[in-house]
Amino acid sequence: MRRPSLPVTAVAAALVLASTLTGCGTLGFGAEEPADIQVYTGRHYDLEQAFKDFESETGLSVEFLSGDDAELLERLKAEGDETPADVFMTVDAGNLWKAAEDGELAPLESKVLDRAVPDGLKDPQNRWVGLSMRARTVMYNPDQVDPSEFDTTETYAGLTDPTWQGRLCMRDSTNSYTQSLVASLIDKHGYDGALEIVGGWVGNDVEIMSNDILLLEALDAGKCDAAITNHYYLGRMLEEDPDLNVKPFWANQDGDGVHVNVSGAGVIKNSDSPKKAQRLIEYLAAKGQNGFVDANHEFPVNPTVEPEPLIAGFGEFDYAPINAEAYGELNAKAVDLMAEAGYE
Ligand SMILES: [Fe+2]
Repeated sequence: MRRPSLPVTAVAAALVLASTLTGCGTLGFGAEEPADIQVYTGRHYDLEQAFKDFESETGLSVEFLSGDDAELLERLKAEGDETPADVFMTVDAGNLWKAAEDGELAPLESKVLDRAVPDGLKDPQNRWVGLSMRARTVMYNPDQVDPSEFDTTETYAGLTDPTWQGRLCMRDSTNSYTQSLVASLIDKHGYDGALEIVGGWVGNDVEIMSNDILLLEALDAGKCDAAITNHYYLGRMLEEDPDLNVKPFWANQDGDGVHVNVSGAGVIKNSDSPKKAQRLIEYLAAKGQNGFVDANHEFPVNPTVEPEPLIAGFGEFDYAPINAEAYGELNAKAVDLMAEAGYE
C-alpha cells in the first residue's frame, strides 16, 4: 500500500440525498454535517483514496455522489442555486465541455493548475482541467500481428486496409469512448473522411463487442488480431495475468499522436465554497496525482509526475491534444455516422 488509510469517520461520505443514480464508488456513511467540499462525479474508479489523502493533507472533508455524467449535469441544473455540490467531475472531456457550455462551471484562476495541466488537456477558457489521461489505442496479439503491419501515421484509418479483413474487434457504437474517437475522426477528416474510415472497418467485418475487457480477452485467445481499447484495461488485466498475450501499439506516432481523453473537473458556478473546491482540484492535479490516477492505471496529466510502473512499461508516446468541443459538439454526428456506416 502506498498510503496509510484514515479511520472511517474521516473518509468521504455519501451525500445524503435521495438518488436514483448508481452509487458506484460512493461510500455508505451518512454525514451529520455537510462536508467542506461536495463532489458530483461520473468517475467510477477508486476515488476514495485520493479524497482521503486530501483530507489528511488539508483537514477539509470531502463527500461525493457518483452517477452518470449526463444525469449529474441534469441534477446540477435542476438544483440551480440550491445545489450542495462544489466540484463537477466527469470521465469524458466532451461532458466537461457540455457542463461549461451550459454555464454550470466557474472559471478557474490558479497558478498551480496553470503549471500542473498542459494546454492540450484542459479547457482553453479555463473552466475545467483534465486530471487523468487515458489513451484509446490499438492493441494486438503479438503471435498474429507484426507491429510493422500498422500504419504509423494514420493508425486508426490504417485498419481499413484489406489486410485486416476478418481480424478486427472493436467496441460498440453506444459507448462514449467509441463516440469520442469517431468525433475526433470527424474533426480531423471531415464527416465524409470519417465515414470512409468507419465504413472501412465495417467492410473488414469488424466484430463488435460490448466492453474493452472482452476485446482484450478476444485478442489474448486469438479470436481477433487487433482491437482498439483504452490502455488502462490492459494495465488491469496484466496486473492479474502478466502472461496475457496482448501488446499495445501507440497509434499515430508519425502523425498527430494517439487519441486521448481525460477525466477532469471544474468548480461549480453555484458552489458555496469555490476556493475550497479549487483547492481540491489543485491537489488532485499536483501532489495528489498518483493517488488519483495510479489505481486505475491512468496516466498523470501533470508532466512532472511519473506514471505507475506497469503502464510506464508501455513506453512513451505522443498524444493529440484533446478537442473537448469536438468530442462534445460532434457526439451526435458521430452516432449518426456510425449508424450510416453500419457500425453497430
Ligand atoms: Fe473505462
